[in-house]
Amino acid sequence: MNLFILNSSIGRKLVMSITGLFLILFLTFHMCMNLVALFSAEAYNMICEFLGANWYALVGTAILAAGFIIHIIYALILTIQNRKARGNDRYDVTSRPKSVEWASQNMLALGIVVLAFLALHLYHFWAKMQLVELQHMAGANVDTSMVTNGAYHIQQTFSNPVNVVLYLIAFCALWFHLTHGFWSALQSMGLDNKTWFNRVKNIGIAYATVLIGGFSLVVIVFFIKSLCA
Ligand code: HEM
Repeated sequence: MNLFILNSSIGRKLVMSITGLFLILFLTFHMCMNLVALFSAEAYNMICEFLGANWYALVGTAILAAGFIIHIIYALILTIQNRKARGNDRYDVTSRPKSVEWASQNMLALGIVVLAFLALHLYHFWAKMQLVELQHMAGANVDTSMVTNGAYHIQQTFSNPVNVVLYLIAFCALWFHLTHGFWSALQSMGLDNKTWFNRVKNIGIAYATVLIGGFSLVVIVFFIKSLCA
């Protein structure tokens, strides 16, 4: 099994697909959670408190981080091997419709933009919340008064127009990455039927649009609120 996953192209694609679908699941939960901040800061902070530094959260974060790392490492391996195998004609042969071509050819570049966003995002939120709680648990003398006040950190982050623009650019990259990733994952897992191809592609586009729409709504609403304050 190990050799299959490491050595065969199908095995590697399968790992990409499973970790990708797992990350989409995380994003779905994360977006739904963030929507709560639009309605009630108290309710949002209660969720942050619930998901704060405890053993379940630590295991969850470790699994999530492993999912990201495996997805990225396999993406690099697959891209390098595909380029080696196909040389300069790497996009010549394809059965995909033109509309998905752009995203498909730029998955690595889109992934790098998403990764850069993730570093900035973790600095904005995780480093000020869960990381501080972890430092506190380890006995460090840190200020823990804001570690579960997610609503405050959202308000602070999105009152800065630079962050708003950076987040919205990253969300566009994430939208393209997800639209391609979704149907590609299902295809790698065995769904390769012509009738279903367009349906799955459209479901992927609709799903990514709802996800990114939800994330963007939070950014835009909090930015507008900051202007009115
Ligand atoms: C409006 C957009 C977003 C908001 C308001 C938001 C908010 C937050 C907050 C408050 C945390 C800290 C939770 C805690 O430590 O208790 C967090 C963590 C995190 N976010 Fe986001 N997020 C957004 C979009 C995204 C996107 C698009 C991604 C992925 C591409 C993402 C990935 C993560 C990850 C990996 C963590 C660390 C794990 C965790 O604490 O759950 N976030 N986010």
